Amino acid sequence: MTLRHLTSINDLSVSEMEKIFLHAQAYLEELGDVQSPFRIARSTEGCRGSILATLFYEPSTRTRLSFESAMSRLGGGVISSADPKSSSAVKGESLADTIRIVSGYADLIALRHPREGAAKLAAEYASVPVINGGDGAHEHPTQTLCDLFTIRREKGALAGLNIAVLGDLKAGRTVHSLVYALARFGATIMTFPAGGLGLPDSVDWRLRNELACERLTGNDLGPEIAVGAIYQPRRPAAARRPTVDVLYVTRFQKERASDGVGEYPVVDSAFLSAMALREALVMHPLPRVDELDAALDTNPRAAYFRQASYGVPIRMALIRQFLGYQSEQTGTPDSRESVLQQSDLVCANRNCISRDAVEAQSAPGKFVVVAERRPRCFYCEDETIDAC
Ligand code: NCD
Repeated sequence: MTLRHLTSINDLSVSEMEKIFLHAQAYLEELGDVQSPFRIARSTEGCRGSILATLFYEPSTRTRLSFESAMSRLGGGVISSADPKSSSAVKGESLADTIRIVSGYADLIALRHPREGAAKLAAEYASVPVINGGDGAHEHPTQTLCDLFTIRREKGALAGLNIAVLGDLKAGRTVHSLVYALARFGATIMTFPAGGLGLPDSVDWRLRNELACERLTGNDLGPEIAVGAIYQPRRPAAARRPTVDVLYVTRFQKERASDGVGEYPVVDSAFLSAMALREALVMHPLPRVDELDAALDTNPRAAYFRQASYGVPIRMALIRQFLGYQSEQTGTPDSRESVLQQSDLVCANRNCISRDAVEAQSAPGKFVVVAERRPRCFYCEDETIDAC
């Protein structure tokens, strides 16, 4: 059996994601109530005897607790390192070494780390599957599974929908994983970036060149809304409608920002009264700060607490799938890709795991080369490269 990891949402094929949604659905007993829409249908013993390690080097409430709750509900055990100050990292242990050790203590590792590419590095040294619970500003694939599951439940489908992502699109890792997945499911993505915080060039490039999106500019949503770019499937399912089906709000990622932020949009009932947003479902990966008015919480269109509650059934399905993984085709295989190891080049992203003084030995300059494209870092997928 091939060892599989989930470092990027692009590691999963559309059919694998569909399978996860199906299994997550099977864990739900519908209650039909807007605020608490379900309860976990039955306690299962599917993972009795297996152990999940949650290795979190950054703060977390939802991701870590829902992983742990999911494993407990599956009858398995959990070991956790939630505070980097109490782990051997403070003694100078590298992530590669920690991962080798924890691979001997658990059957599955959920990792959160402040550096981009950390999950990819961990996957290189692990002998059990590694699931990325958020690596710096790079990706957060398990949040995306919760997001897609929410949209499907509330809107019935993903293909053909108009999904707007709002806020810090530059450092918001949930957004990066989400837009890749939406493109693959045939949704149209609209960006409403806060001032100067648009999608990174590498994400924009992949949407256009690897995920078959056409980038449109121009705004047909009316004067109240500042649309950045629109990414539309090359062969859209239907003519584009000037309305937003889902508004995905994110907070300013102040822990990843080198500068302050200028104008940051605030979503409140006045914002949502714009014609194009009248029907929009409001989502947020949470935590919110002040970009989303708490007065919206009782509005049936506010889906964010339901979205968070799907974290448990989704991670139950994911854990089952990764513990018993059968090798299947990955999401976006690119036969033109090759990996180059170059000791005279370094990733220019200073927050990449390969630039960390302790980790650099385990993460040498390694770059993915795709046909005519500039090489991108194997770990954080940034394309800017410096010579040493
Ligand atoms: C997000 C994260 O950690 O990236 N939170 C989460 O896991 N639901 C979003 C955020 O912190 O802004």
